Amino acid sequence: MIWDEIETRACGKAILLGEHAVVYGVPAIAAPITSLELRVRVRPNPNESEPRLRGLLEGDALADEMVRHAWSHVPGLALGGADVLVESSIPPGGGLGSSAALSVALVRALLALGRREPSAEAVNPLAYELESLAHGLPSGVDNTVIAWQRPLRFQHGTEPRPIRPGGVFHLQLVDSGERAATKEVVAGVRQRYERDQAMYLAIFGAITALVDSAEAALLAGDAPALGRAFDENHQRLQTMGVSTPRLDALCERARQLGALGAKVTGGGGGGHAIVLWPREPTDEQQRGLEDVASGVVCRPVTQLADESD
Ligand code: MEV
Repeated sequence: MIWDEIETRACGKAILLGEHAVVYGVPAIAAPITSLELRVRVRPNPNESEPRLRGLLEGDALADEMVRHAWSHVPGLALGGADVLVESSIPPGGGLGSSAALSVALVRALLALGRREPSAEAVNPLAYELESLAHGLPSGVDNTVIAWQRPLRFQHGTEPRPIRPGGVFHLQLVDSGERAATKEVVAGVRQRYERDQAMYLAIFGAITALVDSAEAALLAGDAPALGRAFDENHQRLQTMGVSTPRLDALCERARQLGALGAKVTGGGGGGHAIVLWPREPTDEQQRGLEDVASGVVCRPVTQLADESD
């Protein structure tokens, strides 16, 4: 097959509520983070017989497996040798969807090369398979929110439900500077769940109620109510053992500095906290957060608002 170079992109994501519990069938709410982006460029390479990763992920065994799996799972495509160049501003292991963005961007590229519409519905099933290589048995929330690129309520096995925020929410991702592999943090939760299912089922019930109230708060433009849901969800995540002393300190400091709520976001064990501010935070508030520990970095604020037409 003769084909030309193609470039696709995928954004980052943040989980607003329900991470980890979502793996057990509980709903979650997630939003795309479009200021973070992963780019895949695929170009034919007649000197190779198969796809080869170049750039950022060259030599990364997992990414290599994802590329090969993607290549072999798009029927009717005989692409031959290719260079697959990946560039990304999504920090790996930071809970912001780096592996899901790679999955989505790869599938978008293959669909486009096969002259198929890279709609979210077409992208998501194979993107989920690629995510599974990275995370074991993921819920699918990460690839879904990135493929749809809109805020949504996700529950495994049901159609995602888009959420149109009824106001503007000032969200900030704060990098703790710590890193953990999502796969391992998820496995740790699984072990603790097996040891005390009754406690975990009670936590999951509480998180379901929090997701419901957070969805209502988003629709109503009620930032204080969303902030309360963040704080309560954070407490549950602490009980599940996926926060760290530094993430706890960050969330506590954010509240002291005037945030409406703060919590771990994504896999945890490090990575990012998500902070909800009543308005654009001041320099003083940002310095106050960054003073919690060396390595802490405040990312630019994301305004979550209704962007549908
Ligand atoms: C990771 O971004 C979200 C988790 O809930 C895992 C998953 O949903 O597969 C921790």
